[in-house]
Amino acid sequence: MSINIPRGTQDILPGQVELWQFIEKKAQDICRRYNYHEIRTPIFEHTELFARGVGDTTDIVQKEMYTFEDRGGRSLTLRPEGTASTVRAYVQNKLFGSPNQPTKLYYIGPMFRYERPQSGRMRQFVQFGVEALGSNDPAIDAEVIALAMEFYRELGLKNLKLVINSLGDKASRQAHKDALIAHFQPKIEEFCGDCQTRLEKNPLRILDCKKDHDHELMSSAPSILDYLNVESEAYFNKVKQYLSDMNISFDVDANLVRGLDYYNNTAFEIMIDGEGFGAITTLSGGGRYNGLVEEIGGPETPGIGFALSIERLLMALQVQNISLSLDEELDCYVVAIGEEAKDKAANLLFKLRQAGITADKDYLDKKIKAQFKAADRLKAKYTAVLGEDELASNKIIVKEMETGSQEEVALDQFIVYMKDKI
Ligand code: HAM
Repeated sequence: MSINIPRGTQDILPGQVELWQFIEKKAQDICRRYNYHEIRTPIFEHTELFARGVGDTTDIVQKEMYTFEDRGGRSLTLRPEGTASTVRAYVQNKLFGSPNQPTKLYYIGPMFRYERPQSGRMRQFVQFGVEALGSNDPAIDAEVIALAMEFYRELGLKNLKLVINSLGDKASRQAHKDALIAHFQPKIEEFCGDCQTRLEKNPLRILDCKKDHDHELMSSAPSILDYLNVESEAYFNKVKQYLSDMNISFDVDANLVRGLDYYNNTAFEIMIDGEGFGAITTLSGGGRYNGLVEEIGGPETPGIGFALSIERLLMALQVQNISLSLDEELDCYVVAIGEEAKDKAANLLFKLRQAGITADKDYLDKKIKAQFKAADRLKAKYTAVLGEDELASNKIIVKEMETGSQEEVALDQFIVYMKDKI
């Protein structure tokens, strides 16, 4: 019996992987421009990090984590997201002590959630995320949002919708929490078991419930925006102002609560409109998480970030018929005829590559016609043909595939000639 891939995971094969590399490169490029630096953290962490960081009343922690005991009896978890790990690394490595503040980090890597797999929802998916730690300036909230929006725009995506909300600071949230408890309490027995536990622990999560979202009390629930105190409201206004100044349009949605517990003040999601997306229309999400660094044992430090998955991005590109201009051609394919030519070709190939030229040859003893076919399939810009005659006269024939024009080049000039062409 053959063994298949686990549900909700995928193989990314040659042909597809170039798209991934292209997108990863774009992510690196934009982070360079915005001055965010890459951080790489382990794939697994102590389970407690996510319980504390993401929040133990969230779906992620309660239902979706890949948690296991290692041979030493420790409880470890495959990371379901990147923020908690980034903050853990920030605290553990005392990045707050560096003279360059705020600390602006980004990551690209696999995350794991035990969710019901469907298109755009995987059990292993790759997040590109950024985190800015150490600044409570609303301009950096706008910077993070702008980076996310620009990343999509530069890839050519259209019909993006930025939705923002403010979840308020601690005091605003407490006032809102009390109002939510008072609102849901009288009819809480009509809600699912999860919501009943959420009521006391974290009533905001009720608004995010997939089972009870149609209950009449949902739409009439008190809005956080009515409970923002003066500071939180001023902060939110500043973020909106910065976005408007950058010509980034947005909708304010008071129901945007996000699925993780660490947020306060700014929260946002980027959605995409149009057919073909099914149930999944959120491309990315993020927000401010002042308090998380302390929760994880560090000094009081504000933070903001966002993450998107490359899977959903690729889905969006596909639905919108956007093909990225990938550099997948071969510069030169060396066609060799005869034993001696084959040996020489192997050596020429090595030198071409040393000179920075992408090059290949046949390794299957193919006839000359089949070698040319292979060159075509690999979209070689040039083929270089080496047969007995050419060897005898120390020459090689270089053919430009697009025009069909060809030239005889002295063998000892071949590499220089190709370097010149490419
Ligand atoms: P999140 O909303 O849970 O936030 O996930 C962010 C993005 O990851 C989603 O918008 C989506 O693109 C992608 N994503 C999540 N789950 C899946 C899945 N099962 N399959 C495919 N894609 C998925 C966070 O993870 C926060 N750490 C974001 C953040 C960073 N907040 C502040 N800093």
